[in-house]
Amino acid sequence: MIIAIIIIAALIVAICFSAVLLFGAPYLPTLAPQVQAALKLADLKPNQSLIELGCGDGRVLIAAAEAGLSVTGYEINPILALIAWLRTRKYGGKVKVEWGNFWHKQWPETDAVFVFLLDKYMKRLDTLCIQNTSRPLKLVSFAFKVPDRKPVKVLNGVYLYVYR
Ligand SMILES: C[S@@+](CC[C@H](N)C(=O)[O-])C[C@H]1O[C@@H](n2cnc3c(N)ncnc32)[C@H](O)[C@@H]1O
Repeated sequence: MIIAIIIIAALIVAICFSAVLLFGAPYLPTLAPQVQAALKLADLKPNQSLIELGCGDGRVLIAAAEAGLSVTGYEINPILALIAWLRTRKYGGKVKVEWGNFWHKQWPETDAVFVFLLDKYMKRLDTLCIQNTSRPLKLVSFAFKVPDRKPVKVLNGVYLYVYR
């Protein structure tokens, strides 16, 4: 009985982490130096806002909340969404974690977007950023560049783009 429960739990975890490949990048956490580089590049003031597309375990949300930012993270993997939600509860209304596919979400008005995705999603993201610019928007991307667009700055493998 216990073995059956363990096998079912392992299957659920495996499905949660592999099914994401149908919609976007697999889970790989951003390391602390790159999280700090991303926040430095975004250069936001306390009370400005940042959204993270695919927030993983919530580490970027936490660093941003510690810097006084209002943050929203979208995460499709229910296990990671739950972990991110639990880890960020202490920041109250400053941090919101939404479970679901960020391609199908209506983004709130925001000052910056952080992503760590894959090359093949960057063009689609570029189009979304162009459509969502009711105010200037900073796109901060770890590891992957936006095709045909020159980054404004690069730091530690993190790229900054500005949409006006
Ligand atoms: C490379 S990981 C980065 C995690 C986190 N941003 C970090 O930097 O530590 C990509 C994350 O995006 C999530 N993801 C991929 N496609 C998604 C989608 N369409 N909607 C929501 N989350 C997605 C994955 O589950 C994974 O947690």
